[in-house]
Amino acid sequence: MEPDWSALEAAARAAFPRAYAPYSRFPVAAALRFADGQVLAAVNVENASYPLSLCAERAAVAAGIAGGHGPVRAVLVLTGAAEPTTPCGGCRQVLAEHGAPDVLVRSLTLQGRSAEHRLGALLPEAFRSESLDRRNPPLPGDVW
Ligand code: THU
Repeated sequence: MEPDWSALEAAARAAFPRAYAPYSRFPVAAALRFADGQVLAAVNVENASYPLSLCAERAAVAAGIAGGHGPVRAVLVLTGAAEPTTPCGGCRQVLAEHGAPDVLVRSLTLQGRSAEHRLGALLPEAFRSESLDRRNPPLPGDVW
């Protein structure tokens, strides 16, 4: 079923001006709908120590986990870019941990251009918790 994007877009547009992106000057807002219906938005939060910068998608997942809202059911990513932008590789991995492969990811620009992809298409053959089910081989020095 097609998600109701209007609440996600409204939440992302409200949060967008609060993006903290003084270094890249590339503000991003992500809005997620969770299994309980809750819609939460977050923004990217950069740091003078550049690698510590946090993407909007991951910030939104963390807020949803903290609130106990259940798995992710829809994702909207809003940027000021000319073309819609998809989540970075790290965010795809985090979204795949908390959302099913059929979850729709809608990329939207401030001007209203959009694109849609399934999470499973953005990260095929994802490494997930089931991949850890078998006991890892022993490391040198392990006591058995
Ligand atoms: N960024 C996100 O917040 N989400 C993405 O999916 C792509 C990149 C942020 C990270 C950094 O603050 C800025 O955009 C430029 O890479």
